[in-house]
Amino acid sequence: MLIVNTVSELRCTIKTWRQAGERIAFVPTMGNLHEGHIRLVTEAKQHAERVVVSIFVNPTQFGPGEDFDSYPRTETEDQAKLAAAGADLLFLPAVSDVYTSDAKTTVSVSGLSTIYCGAARPGHFDGVATVVCKLFNIVQPDSALFGRKDFQQLAVIRTMVRDLNIPVDIVGVDTVREASGLAMSSRNGYLSVQEKQTAAQLYQTLCAARDAVLVGKPYAEIEQLSLRTLQAAGFKPDYFAICRSDDLAKAGSQDIQLVILVAARLGKTRLIDNIAFSRAM
Ligand code: PAJ
Repeated sequence: MLIVNTVSELRCTIKTWRQAGERIAFVPTMGNLHEGHIRLVTEAKQHAERVVVSIFVNPTQFGPGEDFDSYPRTETEDQAKLAAAGADLLFLPAVSDVYTSDAKTTVSVSGLSTIYCGAARPGHFDGVATVVCKLFNIVQPDSALFGRKDFQQLAVIRTMVRDLNIPVDIVGVDTVREASGLAMSSRNGYLSVQEKQTAAQLYQTLCAARDAVLVGKPYAEIEQLSLRTLQAAGFKPDYFAICRSDDLAKAGSQDIQLVILVAARLGKTRLIDNIAFSRAM
């Protein structure tokens, strides 16, 4: 696996692959890789001859007081995992290689970026959209893979790609979970042993809410009950929302493709999860 730190080096390598007629699949990450990230790499190999992974803890998607400084950086372990998974190139840029100090352009997907996680983390999705747009311009992949675990992020990126005619095929990959049902996340490392046990209730609550939707309970009632369940378990929920899966608007009784989105704090850790499903008419 090649390890490349600068944009010019990356472009050089990609050019030779392109000249050989090879397709490129791209997996952007912030590192501290777990099985969820590795699943994206494995899936990427089904889409292209070459797989490029980036590890870049993107400062513009962290708000003041968030965990940018303490975000886990585990470069050596990450490199070994990516090499074992068959990635061809790891792009590890410095902040100064990605952002010029006088950068004046931000990519903002209106509406989608200010609801749910965007309301709790102002500016977060502008930071995500901007860095993903930049990384797409740097790598120029044919396809890029993102986890459905970050459902709202995936919706923001799909919308950006559609609106800006970015010629990258966006592939969503199912959430990889622990045996307990807890969605794997770099931030799970912040949880104590006790909190990790409690954290599994997030997915259990989502599954119970989905089952309640499928038997026809009113959505507002399900949301309220789920919020109370999470609070009783020790979470501080930000939101628990039954939405349409295409645009994340609040679901109505006519909507078929649904997603239930949740974000909740457990101690000092903010966890997100979701469950997408189809409601038969
Ligand atoms: P990061 O949190 O490192 O996640 C990188 C990719 O891994 C994202 O597409 C995310 O949805 C996916 N992922 C995380 N946990 C997963 C799981 N349990 N199962 C499947 N996929 C999972 O998301 C980001 O980084 C950043 O916002 C980024 C897109 C790189 C922009 O900076």
